Amino acid sequence: MTKKKKKRWADHWTVKAKKENYPARSVYKLQEIQKKYNVIKRGDRVLDLGFAPGSWLIYASHMTGEAGRVVGIDINDTDIILPDNAKVIKADIFEYQDNELFGANRFDVVLSDMATDATGNRFVDSARSLNLAYAAFSIAKKALTDKGSFVCKIFFGEDFKAFTDEVKGYFKEFKIFKPQTCRKASKEIYVIGKDKSV
Ligand SMILES: C[S@@+](CC[C@H](N)C(=O)[O-])C[C@H]1O[C@@H](n2cnc3c(N)ncnc32)[C@H](O)[C@@H]1O
Repeated sequence: MTKKKKKRWADHWTVKAKKENYPARSVYKLQEIQKKYNVIKRGDRVLDLGFAPGSWLIYASHMTGEAGRVVGIDINDTDIILPDNAKVIKADIFEYQDNELFGANRFDVVLSDMATDATGNRFVDSARSLNLAYAAFSIAKKALTDKGSFVCKIFFGEDFKAFTDEVKGYFKEFKIFKPQTCRKASKEIYVIGKDKSV
C-alpha cells in the first residue's frame, strides 16, 4: 500500500469518529470487540483505564445505558462533555493501584487501552506496554466481579506469551484479537478474558 493510500485509510476512521461525535478513531476497535465478544452489558459498571481523550468511555456509557456506570482513569485530561453515567479521575495507574476504588467486586468490566508515546524502539515500547498491561491485569484481578470481563491492549513483544498465559488462567473464555481498525503496522493487539473464574 502506498503512503498516500495508507494516510487516506487512516483519515477515514478519524473523520468518521468526528462525525459520530467521538474524540478518537480508537472507538471502532472497542466497537469491533463489543460486536464480536459482547463484553459490556446493560447496567454494567465499567472501569476504563487510559480513557483519554474518551472515545471508549463514551461508547461504553452507551453500551451500559443509564443504569450502568463508567469510571475512567488517565494521566491526561479530556475536554469532552462527559456522559451522565460517567466520571473520570486524573491519575497515574502505577500510583493509584491501591486505591479503594479497586476493592473487590467493584466492576463488571475492566478495559485498558493504555499506551505510552512510542519511542520507535520496539524493545522499549513493548516493555512499557507490558508494564501497563500487568498493572491493568492486577487491578482487574482485584476489582472484577465473578464472571467479570477484561479487555487489555498490549504491544506484541517478548513476554507477550507469559502475559497471555497468566490472563488465560483467570477466565473461562479467553481470546486474542486484532481489530481490523488497528493500523496494520501497529504491534497492538487485544487480550480478552470473559467470565472471571478465580
Ligand atoms: C491510546 S490512548 C487511549 C484512547 C482511549 N481508549 C479513547 O478511546 O479515547 C492511551 C492512553 O493511555 C494513557 N496512559 C498511559 N500511561 C498511563 C498511566 N500510567 N496511567 C494512566 N493512564 C495512562 C495515556 O495518557 C493515553 O491517554
